[in-house]
Amino acid sequence: MAVLGILTSPDEILGKVSKPVEAFDERLHRLLDDMRETLIKAGGAGLAAVQVGYLMRVCVIWMGGKEYTEMINPEFKGIGNQRKGNEGCLSVPGVTVRMMRHREGVVSFQDRYGNWTELQLTNLQAVCVQHEIDHMQGVLIA
Ligand code: CO
Repeated sequence: MAVLGILTSPDEILGKVSKPVEAFDERLHRLLDDMRETLIKAGGAGLAAVQVGYLMRVCVIWMGGKEYTEMINPEFKGIGNQRKGNEGCLSVPGVTVRMMRHREGVVSFQDRYGNWTELQLTNLQAVCVQHEIDHMQGVLIA
């Protein structure tokens, strides 16, 4: 495993749209392993593949403790209203922005082998998935 370099704004790759993953192969697994290492090293709540230069709909989310969830091709459906909260980004260092986000929702995604699964998320993890899906659309908090 390797710690990857995290791209920072205004790197133009961060503004590009990521593509759905179709090959659940060794290359994807290596990327996921490296992204997890990179996220742990950075101490962040989540990391999208575009942040390490791969335009793939892939992210890793910190679930608390030593637990991380890999999500491939994630789709998020919010529950209830959106609320404002402070948010930061490893690609926009030193900046905190008030963002409107759902505090609860359901995310559908594929695991590293291509199996679809669904998770109900709240609070930090719910906000984080919405943030990472924004990255996949080329959208930054600032
Ligand atoms: Co970010």
